[in-house]
Amino acid sequence: MEPASADGAPASPPAGRPVRDVPRTIRDLRLARDGKRKAAPSKLDNPLREGLRLERVPDPASLVLFGATGDLAHRKVVPALYQLWRTNLLPHEFMLVAVGRRAYDDLTFQAEIGKTLESYSRVPVETGPKAEFLSRITYHQGDFADPDAFDRLSVRLDAIDEERGTRGNRLFYLATQSSAFTEVIAQLGRVGLDHETHGGGWRRIVIEKPFGRDLDSAIRLNREVLKVFREKQVYRIDHYLGKETVRNLLVFRFGNGIFEPLWNRRYVDHVQITVAESLGIENRGAFYEETGASRDVLQNHLMQLLALVAMEPPATFEADALRDEKVKVLRALSPMTPDEIRSDIVRGQYGPGWVAAQQVPGYRAEPEVDPASETETFVAARFEIDDWRWAGVPFYVRTGKRLPKRSSEIAIQFRPVPHRLFKDSSEDPEPNLLALRIQPDEGILLRFGAKVPGLGLDVRAVNMDFTYGSAFNVDSPDAYETLILDALLGDASLFTRADEVEEAWSIVTPIIDAWIDMPAPAFPDYEAGSWGPEAADELLARDGRRWRRI
Ligand code: BG6
Repeated sequence: MEPASADGAPASPPAGRPVRDVPRTIRDLRLARDGKRKAAPSKLDNPLREGLRLERVPDPASLVLFGATGDLAHRKVVPALYQLWRTNLLPHEFMLVAVGRRAYDDLTFQAEIGKTLESYSRVPVETGPKAEFLSRITYHQGDFADPDAFDRLSVRLDAIDEERGTRGNRLFYLATQSSAFTEVIAQLGRVGLDHETHGGGWRRIVIEKPFGRDLDSAIRLNREVLKVFREKQVYRIDHYLGKETVRNLLVFRFGNGIFEPLWNRRYVDHVQITVAESLGIENRGAFYEETGASRDVLQNHLMQLLALVAMEPPATFEADALRDEKVKVLRALSPMTPDEIRSDIVRGQYGPGWVAAQQVPGYRAEPEVDPASETETFVAARFEIDDWRWAGVPFYVRTGKRLPKRSSEIAIQFRPVPHRLFKDSSEDPEPNLLALRIQPDEGILLRFGAKVPGLGLDVRAVNMDFTYGSAFNVDSPDAYETLILDALLGDASLFTRADEVEEAWSIVTPIIDAWIDMPAPAFPDYEAGSWGPEAADELLARDGRRWRRI
């Protein structure tokens, strides 16, 4: 079955448009994927979908990138587009319309992107595919506050449809500072760029995080977005949802019969979710001062991971079915009282220390950071989900900058056996554990007890370990590749819906608000290169547990 666009646009383009050079055999396809694209003309309109049926290729379209000269566009969005292009996953009739304030022309901007690709592409950049890709980029100069810039943009996009066959399909991508979101959206509405055309041309908008800075601002932003676009046109991005292991979590849970029966309070003792980073705040001091770990990672990445682990099986894999289930989990996390916040949430800030054999400064000494800053660079929390499946099972989550290593994982620890049969074993058997490694070394580990060889009956924990790298021998796509492709295909399953974002904020906002009234924290309270403040260990020790060493 062909994938249908979520917003009702036809997924397959009608026949009779210019054809692209396509690989015709599996070998050609591999060559093309390795970057040795072969110029073999073909009659197939969309070979990957209609001919070989190996991959999905979106409709002809323009991607209009706001904030095109910014960091996110250069580091993530454009390299992801290049990778999609060189693996034949973008349509031949594709244009990237880069919108920015700087006075560039097409050639200057293309040259800049050429350099960007050399720095940030995850694969070596080859001259042929690069030149083809660059030829599909055009620069549109304009200030977001200037209505004329949008009038000109509208005219220009129509001209591109004519010249490049992009058929009125447009994906707007907001990679700007979040303060510009409402302005750009209102202008798009004013010039009618949100309207889908009579000829079936679709309009979608991708909105980057942060989506609001608390519940009220998220509600206001949703209201502004939905004044112009319909929810089905809106793709709020959380790049964690595009990570291969996160997507595999769904397959793991719902594509296998053996784990789901154990996935509940009867068998699970507790869950730990970690997003650890060894990096500091890089050159984002001003941004981070306003954000902190709770807005930057807890509200989005950690809440999403928690929802995916805890949700009920959706009836189908359609975007809304999946998102309905995630929303139910977030609703079942009741907002905390100030007392619960004091006891169940830990915040921390790194001081100077050593990370990967390098001496690094403390947060307060980073550029653009207040020397007396109270912004948290670490947060750990204990949540409970008040529903039938999870009542009484703690979910511990943590995230932090300048931890010993970059490592994200979800660990499900199971209850011990009800009766200890092997009492003579010299070791206390470690509990069964399932760890889903999100990064690096993506994979899944199952820990269980095994008999130590010999005449006695010693039991020791052993691991059964699956790693993506060795099992499949292919690189996983970057999350941005997956998500941009999905947005072009009209599949919103891995994007967050308005109510979902607001539910996540309704958990995190009371926490941030309560901190304002609490005594100033004794920051810095963890050394760079350590696993966070002692209070984070105490949070688990209180329940007789400890963080898994990862
Ligand atoms: C971003 C945060 O959303 O996620 C960053 O703004 C953080 O502060 C990043 O470093 C982590 O993403 P990843 O993919 O590197 O784990």
